[in-house]
Order: sequence, then structure tokens, then C-alpha cells
Amino acid sequence: MTFLCLVCLCLVGFLSKSQLVTAQLDEQAILLAINGELGVPGWGANNTNYCNWAGISCGLNHSMVEELDLSRLGLRGNVTLISELKALKQLDLSSNGFHGEIPSSLGNLSQLEFLDLSLNKFGGVIPMELGSLRNLKSLNLSNNMLVGMDT
Ligand SMILES: *[C@@H]1O[C@H](CO)[C@@H](O)[C@H](O)[C@H]1NC(C)=O
Ligand SMILES: *[C@@H]1O[C@H](CO)[C@@H](O)[C@H](O)[C@H]1NC(C)=O
Ligand SMILES: *[C@@H]1O[C@H](CO)[C@@H](O)[C@H](O)[C@H]1NC(C)=O
Ligand SMILES: *[C@@H]1O[C@H](CO)[C@@H](O)[C@H](O)[C@H]1NC(C)=O
Ligand SMILES: *[C@@H]1O[C@H](CO)[C@@H](O)[C@H](O)[C@H]1NC(C)=O
Repeated sequence: MTFLCLVCLCLVGFLSKSQLVTAQLDEQAILLAINGELGVPGWGANNTNYCNWAGISCGLNHSMVEELDLSRLGLRGNVTLISELKALKQLDLSSNGFHGEIPSSLGNLSQLEFLDLSLNKFGGVIPMELGSLRNLKSLNLSNNMLVGMDT
């Protein structure tokens, strides 16, 4: 019985550790893909720990990205991949050269509390999927070329 419990404990320890490693690999792969798309200055330099890359803050367990600040970097490109960072609470893409439609997949970021897309060239309609962001406290879409809400 004691032995079995010990095995269980070890197994639990092993599983949570491997889950953490998997999460780190996932987040790193996503961030490298985002960097390939946007070319963020300073990213990739501290290759071993993306939590130290410019504009990134990770959560307490140092695996999931919770804050991403890419404001005022003169970036262009497709920001759709950012919606793969599932633990994001704060996303600031303000004051760049992003254009095209706001990705509806941003509505998948269920933890998101702060979203600033201001001072870009986003166009078209505001995707109604943003309405499913239940934790959102602050939304700034000003200074874009948006024409209204998706219906
Ligand atoms: C720690 O990271 C794991 C990654 O899978 C996540 O599921 C969990 O919610 C995180 N815990 C905290 C306290 O951030
Ligand atoms: C790399 O990380 C160190 C400390 O962790 C930091 O001082 C340095 O600015 C980082 N370099 C880049 C390019 O982000
Ligand atoms: C961005 O890429 C996604 C697929 O990854 C595509 O569906 C979308 O139309 C692209 N957006 C822009 C503005 O090019
Ligand atoms: C994310 O959102 C898009 C568009 O709203 C949807 O098609 C897709 O299935 C969602 N992906 C996940 C993993 O929830
Ligand atoms: C929204 O963004 C604009 C441009 O960046 C800024 O001037 C304004 O203060 C912001 N509004 C709020 C409520 O944060």
C-alpha cells in the first residue's frame, strides 16, 4: 500500500513536470512562429528563456505568456498567431503598422483583460467574436480604419 502511494506520488510529480515542459515547448514554438511573421526586435536572443524576451511577461510558473507588449515597434504582418497564446491577459499592439481585419480568433483568448490595438491600420468590421471575451476590462480600438461591428 505504502509502495503504491509512493508510485502514485512519483507519477503525479512526473506528469505535472512533463506538462510544464510541454507547455514551455508549445509557447516557445508559437513565439518563434510569431517572430518569424513579425520580426520582433530583440526576440530569440535569449533563446533558452522566452520569458526574458522584450515585451513578454510570463505567469508565476514561468511557462505561459500572460502579457505581451509590442507597442511602438513599427511592426507589420499577420497577428493571427498571437491568439495561440492561450494564457494572455494583456495584449498591447498599439502604434504599429498592422493592417487587414482584426483576427476573429482573438475571441479565443478567454483570459484576456486588456486589449489595445489603437494607432494601427486595422480595417473592415470589428469581429463579433470579440464579444466572447468575458474577462475584458479595457479595449482600445481607436485610430484605425474600422467601419463598424460585424453583425
Ligand atoms: C502553470 O502552467 C500550466 C501549464 O500547463 C498551466 O496549466 C497552469 O494553469 C499554470 N499555473 C499557474 C498558477 O499559472
Ligand atoms: C537577455 O536577458 C538578460 C537578463 O535575463 C537581459 O538583461 C537582456 O536585456 C536580455 N537580452 C535581450 C536581447 O532581450
Ligand atoms: C492571417 O493569416 C490567417 C491564416 O493564418 C488568414 O486566415 C488571415 O486572412 C490573414 N490575415 C491577414 C490580414 O492577412
Ligand atoms: C479560434 O477562433 C477561430 C475563429 O473565431 C475558430 O475558427 C477556431 O476554431 C478557434 N480555435 C480554437 C483552438 O479555439
Ligand atoms: C486609446 O488609444 C489612444 C491612442 O493610443 C490614446 O490616445 C487613448 O488615451 C487611449 N484611450 C484609453 C481609454 O486608453
